[in-house]
Amino acid sequence: MLVGSNPASQIYVASKRKACEEVGFVSRSYDLPETTSEAELLELIDTLNADNTIDGILVQLPLPDPIDEAKVIAAIDPAKDVDGFHTTNVGRLWTGLDAPVPCTPYGCLLMLKETLGELKGKRALVLGRSNIVGKPMAALLLTEHCTVTIAHSRTEDLAERCREADILVAAVGRAEMVRGDWIKPGAAVIDVGINRVEAPEKGDGETRLVGDVAFDEAKRVAGFITPVPGGVGPMTIANLLRNTVVAACRQNGLPDPEI
Ligand code: GUN
Repeated sequence: MLVGSNPASQIYVASKRKACEEVGFVSRSYDLPETTSEAELLELIDTLNADNTIDGILVQLPLPDPIDEAKVIAAIDPAKDVDGFHTTNVGRLWTGLDAPVPCTPYGCLLMLKETLGELKGKRALVLGRSNIVGKPMAALLLTEHCTVTIAHSRTEDLAERCREADILVAAVGRAEMVRGDWIKPGAAVIDVGINRVEAPEKGDGETRLVGDVAFDEAKRVAGFITPVPGGVGPMTIANLLRNTVVAACRQNGLPDPEI
């Protein structure tokens, strides 16, 4: 479900819908106007909760201001919550129980494990404390036995804290905030930020996408670094598909798939 016309959300949702089509999911799209009321959205969620041909429900965030996001997330059946945003699933993640894991942080974790192997004992700094990325990322790194710091835009001595990290996940939403000299030599840097900035070099009124990390500076210092765009984004979508297949199996009495 996409409510309103946030340009970034429109792009993300289009990618998600395309991925569903590519793998052969039946995917129903609801493009709802900016004026959609909370009650209307809740009613649609109720209908989809009760529809046993639907295994997964995704409401793209952020929602327009008058709609209470927490209320909307709470209305989704936790079994169909393929984003892992429902408080039941958040609680399960933080208490070490099996749960659908938010797609972006899980994608970051897979990249870190693939690149570094064992994460045990490493110092990880998560820059950003959102419910979508920062907090679940910290939970996942903790599960991998990292020593985790959650920092944010108001952290004192932020550069210093970043410089201590073997793993730095930047998800603060500030264009190129993390500079090259904030990074510990050899560190693994995952840049979750997607920020649109002016690009006068491309012409009048042109823009380009940059991450939360100043990539050209940081790549000289880091051992590993993800670019923006093209780093984390595809992993988010892959995990959404993964969570949906697992949800479908569980709701239809099938064993968990080996993915
Ligand atoms: N907005 C930004 N990232 C996400 C995501 O992973 N899921 C949803 N539903 N909304 C988002």
